[in-house]
Amino acid sequence: MEISVLPSAVSTNTLVKEKANSGASEGYMILANEQTAGRGRIGRSFFSPKNTGVYLSLLLRPKNYSSEQAVRITTMAAAAVCVAIEEISGEKAEIKWVNDIFVRGKKVCGILTEGSFDLESGLLDFAVLGVGINVYEPYNGFPKELESIAGAVFQEHTNDAKNRLVSEFLNRFYGYYTAPSLTKYIEEYRKRSFVIGKEVSLLSSNETKNAVVLGIDDHCRLLVKYADGTEGCYSSGEISV
Ligand code: BTN
Repeated sequence: MEISVLPSAVSTNTLVKEKANSGASEGYMILANEQTAGRGRIGRSFFSPKNTGVYLSLLLRPKNYSSEQAVRITTMAAAAVCVAIEEISGEKAEIKWVNDIFVRGKKVCGILTEGSFDLESGLLDFAVLGVGINVYEPYNGFPKELESIAGAVFQEHTNDAKNRLVSEFLNRFYGYYTAPSLTKYIEEYRKRSFVIGKEVSLLSSNETKNAVVLGIDDHCRLLVKYADGTEGCYSSGEISV
């Protein structure tokens, strides 16, 4: 594993993607102390201030992963971040499907996985797994528009917490990624998913629907029941509770 630690990066995902395209191997990782243009899901930005967060991107080249299997990378990372947060901080970490991590009711971590697929085989060529964790409150607070949503893992400075979170996350993630069975990670993912049994609004393919979440299956797909009694299944999308 090769790790580059940078004082600042535009976006660690963008940099690792460039490295992937020029042949870097699996395990190549960039860890930055701030991002000047951190990216989130669905074209959003990710607030990445100096010193208070962990911003990392990891290059993966799994063999024979279809697009369905590629989704696992994100959910394995979500489970691994939760376990790491709980181990290092003692706080309970919860998952809002698919991959937002909450502590004390506020979002403390976002995950953005970007895949590049081989056009002929349809298999994953590489994936860049990007993880952003708000470890501490930013020095000047969160921007107004994030104030009610975003939070930090720790309320007070804790020695070495950032390094310990990164190393615990990597150990957990590789454990799940290399395990012969998916059972352990799915169990960890499912037991921290706080949307099960709740009524949610589901945004997928530009359409919003209300539904009750019935559960999460072994592919980490969301199983829902709509008001008219019919059922649905989602492998991606955005929910609000
Ligand atoms: C989200 O919540 O929408 C996903 C946020 C992902 C942020 C991480 S920080 C490290 C990596 N580099 C980026 O530009 N984004 C991801």
